[in-house]
Amino acid sequence: MATITVRNLDEQTKQAIRERAARNGHSMEEEARLLLGAGALADNPERVLTSIVNMAEPEATVENYAPGSQHYFPARGKTVLLIICGGIAAYKSLDLIRRLKERDVEVNVVMTRAAGEFITPLSAGALSHSKVFTDLFDRQDEHDIGHIRLAREADLIVVAPATANMIAKISHGFADDLASAILLASKNQILLAPAMNPAMWNNPATRRNVEALLKDGVQFIGPETGEMAERSEAGRGRMTEPMDIVGEIGRLLDDRPKPLAGLSVVLTAGPTHEPIDPVRYIANRSSGKQGYAIADALAAAGAEVNLVSGPVELARPAGINFFQVESARQMHQAVKNCLPVDIAVMVAAVADWRVANSADEKIKKKPGSTGPVPLKLTENPDILKFIGHHEQRPKLVIGFAAETRDVIKNAKAKLKRKGADWILANDVSPETGIMGGDSNTIKLLSSSGVDEWPNLAKDQVARRLVDKIIAYFDSEIISV
Ligand code: C5P
Repeated sequence: MATITVRNLDEQTKQAIRERAARNGHSMEEEARLLLGAGALADNPERVLTSIVNMAEPEATVENYAPGSQHYFPARGKTVLLIICGGIAAYKSLDLIRRLKERDVEVNVVMTRAAGEFITPLSAGALSHSKVFTDLFDRQDEHDIGHIRLAREADLIVVAPATANMIAKISHGFADDLASAILLASKNQILLAPAMNPAMWNNPATRRNVEALLKDGVQFIGPETGEMAERSEAGRGRMTEPMDIVGEIGRLLDDRPKPLAGLSVVLTAGPTHEPIDPVRYIANRSSGKQGYAIADALAAAGAEVNLVSGPVELARPAGINFFQVESARQMHQAVKNCLPVDIAVMVAAVADWRVANSADEKIKKKPGSTGPVPLKLTENPDILKFIGHHEQRPKLVIGFAAETRDVIKNAKAKLKRKGADWILANDVSPETGIMGGDSNTIKLLSSSGVDEWPNLAKDQVARRLVDKIIAYFDSEIISV
């Protein structure tokens, strides 16, 4: 990892990091590292950090999130019922309350008995400016408001952290405490932010419960991959950071008109796996994060999204049609099945070649043989090119170009060759940290030239692209 010299940052950036670090209880160095994420691998982490901090949150005043402001928060004025379960991540829920209040969201809080082992109702109440309901049965509370009313009055119920135990209870319809009774009585949208040990998250019982809840339309955010609170434990199980949960709440409660309603999209994401034999395959480092973020943003704008995904470690986005594939040929077929559509966004890192002579049985080492088994490769179908020249070509065809050098030159050639309207080119050389990382630096090429975007988080890239798509279809309508 490159080193960051805080001394080299300008005063404004230093001050912004100092304030964020103090708010989040981190050292400045920790805060800078967290902010940078994969960007720390960039050539000039100080520059990346400066751009992240300067486009980060505005000052936390309710006015900053008001209608008409650049940072308008779509859940402003809505009511969120926050259920806090017992887990070390419960402390982050206090920050979540604060962030929502800053954005003028009414927050009612319910704490499970176990949550009380980690944080107090007093601190949650002080931040939410309202009474905190706990699992201790209180005749007065039940008389005054009642768990059914608590459930009904909320525009959204958020469970953060959602423990494995609570997930199991909801998926089976238990109602043996206030929190689970509310969840069972609720007809509202539910958003779960799980937090647990990776072994618990990966346990087949939790997998089954999550799968069942997804089918029931329950929304999930996270968990994220990283270090656990327990020493030397790492994996998928960390609760998503409060600001990301705030973003998701905004998206879920956004009832503004959907500018892409009525338009359909086919979108590819992730890598492809090309079998060598039944147990081995050729793959690449694509995480699928960028494609999934675009799928989410398109769905939030009201488009009907068909996501054709290669194998990735990401939660299946809610509210879209999902097609799981492994190989390029399967991806090609799935994309064909989705036609006709209005928009194609080909984000997948499709393997250019597959093994021509892939074996039906596991290939064994031959006793006495010296060299490896030769693999004969053959070209895969180019899905973007296929779509770009199809008789049912979508109105807007968008591709990506992952390059390690001559980014613009190569992307220009690709635009033409593949019949795309736009190509989003990015430099994926290992030092950029883009492959598998959380941010991206895009150059958007179209017939009208090159638009260079700053280094942005992948979900911001997604939103910016969707804004462009919206503008494209707006101008289409005008020109008719
Ligand atoms: O040729 P290259 O792989 O660099 O092109 C990248 C673009 O083409 C991406 O949009 C990718 O999803 C798409 N592509 C495809 N099918 C392939 C190879 C690439 O759809 N076989």
